[in-house]
Amino acid sequence: MKKILVTGGCGYIGSHTLLDLIGHGYEVISVDNNSRSNTRLIQGVEKITGRKIKNYKVDLCDFDDTHAIFAENDDIAGVIHFAAYKAVGESVERPLLYYQNNLASLINLLRCIEEYQVPYFVFSSSCTVYGNPDSIPVTEETPQKPAESPYGSTKQMGETIIQAFAQKSSTQCILLRYFNPAGAHPSALIGELPIDRPQNLTPVITQTAIGKIPQLTVFGNDYPTRDGSCLRDFIHVCDLAHAHTLAIQFLIEKKNKSNCEVFNLGTGDGITVLEAIRAFEDVNDVKLNYTIGPRRPGDVVAIYANKDKAEQQLGWKPKFTLRDIMETAWKWEKQLQEDETLFTQQNSRLN
Ligand code: UD1
Repeated sequence: MKKILVTGGCGYIGSHTLLDLIGHGYEVISVDNNSRSNTRLIQGVEKITGRKIKNYKVDLCDFDDTHAIFAENDDIAGVIHFAAYKAVGESVERPLLYYQNNLASLINLLRCIEEYQVPYFVFSSSCTVYGNPDSIPVTEETPQKPAESPYGSTKQMGETIIQAFAQKSSTQCILLRYFNPAGAHPSALIGELPIDRPQNLTPVITQTAIGKIPQLTVFGNDYPTRDGSCLRDFIHVCDLAHAHTLAIQFLIEKKNKSNCEVFNLGTGDGITVLEAIRAFEDVNDVKLNYTIGPRRPGDVVAIYANKDKAEQQLGWKPKFTLRDIMETAWKWEKQLQEDETLFTQQNSRLN
């Protein structure tokens, strides 16, 4: 049983990936400083799998603490690195926080990987590395434009660092460029769990529908797209998670042609923000209170994936539709509310 270290295992994609890895016979450990998460999602994975998962509450920006994890687990076969800040808007407001956190943690991790000669490394990158591309859909070869936000810039720099590292290292690397991860596990035991007010579209949609957010603002309807709102490629988080298992298998089977391979992970369908809102309303029969507002600084106009490479080489095929995304995201939001209500009732009984 190969041991995989998942960084950011308490997070949204990390927890779904832990689940997928366990389902495919891997032993997993997680590291997460819980600065933007808590242990609820890990508990969800434990519930689904019936397994206990070791999570190190460590900040990867602390080299000594990070090193200690590798010293304790010198049999790590692969690292999948999710832990990072990821909000486009916030990164525009607080650029240094993003550069410091996302890059220092990556470098510390790579230093440990080098010292312990970990064979495989998978990096959580983003379609944000393409900037505002000249043509869509984008392939892995599409020239990269300047990043539209410091968040995007940390992903471009992260990729550059890993590419240079891979040239001089025995570690085989894969960069996975996600499009827009959304939805939740069909069990509603894990899903996206924003600690503060969510920034990403789908949790904003579900929190508006449930009444936590009074109104959703669509950031701009004057973009050059079919209805004026931005266009994105929404990929179900379970499909995305499975791609990480396939990426590790791909490296184990030595199918990679270079030390650092790149794959787009999207559905290949471009959906506008307004279409996503309508899909949510239709599937769940819920009316959303939304308004049109100004553009959000840092947003890319339109992007969706050419997913041929991942399909052909990883054997990856997204199974979930946009409807599934909206249905599972809503089921998860309702579950969260149920849990909160139960918690409040229990507390009031105790008081
Ligand atoms: C970006 C990255 C994506 C990454 C994600 C992590 C790009 C093109 N994509 O996604 O790869 O996984 O960050 O956070 O950079 N919107 C609203 N109202 C809201 C929230 C969002 O209109 O309240 C709109 C945004 O303006 C955007 C779309 O919805 O057009 C999606 O936004 P969001 O979910 O934040 O993701 P991206 O910024 O596209």
